[in-house]
Amino acid sequence: ERTAKYHILVSDAMSQEGLLPLLENANVHCVEAYVDEVEDLTQFDALLVRSATKVTEELLQKMPNLKIVARAGVGVDNIDLDAATKHGVVVVNAPDGNTISTAEHTFAMISSLLRKIPQANASIKAGEWNRKAFQGSELRGKTLGIVGFGRIGTQIAKRARAFEMSLLVFDPFLTKARAEKIGVTPASLDDVLAQSDIITVHTPLTKETKGILGMENIAKTKQGVFLINCARGGIIDESALKHYLANGHIAGAALDVFEEEPAQDKELLEFDNVIATPHIAASTKEAQLNVASQVSEEVIRFLEGQPATNS
Ligand code: MLT
Repeated sequence: ERTAKYHILVSDAMSQEGLLPLLENANVHCVEAYVDEVEDLTQFDALLVRSATKVTEELLQKMPNLKIVARAGVGVDNIDLDAATKHGVVVVNAPDGNTISTAEHTFAMISSLLRKIPQANASIKAGEWNRKAFQGSELRGKTLGIVGFGRIGTQIAKRARAFEMSLLVFDPFLTKARAEKIGVTPASLDDVLAQSDIITVHTPLTKETKGILGMENIAKTKQGVFLINCARGGIIDESALKHYLANGHIAGAALDVFEEEPAQDKELLEFDNVIATPHIAASTKEAQLNVASQVSEEVIRFLEGQPATNS
């Protein structure tokens, strides 16, 4: 291992099959351990992470040989990008490996929310047989508002069409040509807010999107709207969400992500019409295999002198 050309640390559990390009490469010495469990971090050329490892300035200082950080997933909000730039470390991600899983989970959440499946499941397991309590709503004919129309938003639109829903899409970067190609009508955010029965967000968390569904914008939504967040905690402002759940304006919310994770806000989770999962939209065998193999191949290519493709 001392003689290996490249030393790579995999901090955060990843699909073993996905890591094969690294594990089977004779030039690579691969260590799988969390950064805080490794005594000497100085040897590593590359660091692979999911979301649990926080790549801070302090960590980068302990890794003077580091050339590349690879995020096996999409969001790089656990990586201090300015510090990485300062230390000359390239950051890459796996931009499309978990698109389908996330879109499918979003649909599972929408169906669960509108048919009250988690609540009905809890009730029957508690020994009840309460058919009256769980009347839901159909998806057919409802208007689904999609805020953010990248890879995941696009897959949501495809699935929504199969459910015979109407679509309204807001994305400032959506060109007319692309909208036409996919067959959606671009709308203003105000139109999405005013006309949608269900609104799902699929943007990264940025200065522009943080709290985009907050006090002011939720006020513009239909009475009885359903809100979905399987993207990033904070895109829907949680205190605004609680306000409009408490006054009955919002009919229900489905959340996979939270402002603080692990989710701390009991008050939010205790609403009967809030259903939640612990940030598992990308947790499928397929997505984890995809993202781990995408970043493994990217890291090898980069260490061998080719430019990073997903930086
Ligand atoms: C992502 O950014 O890829 C998702 O949040 C899934 C994950 O936690 O890796």
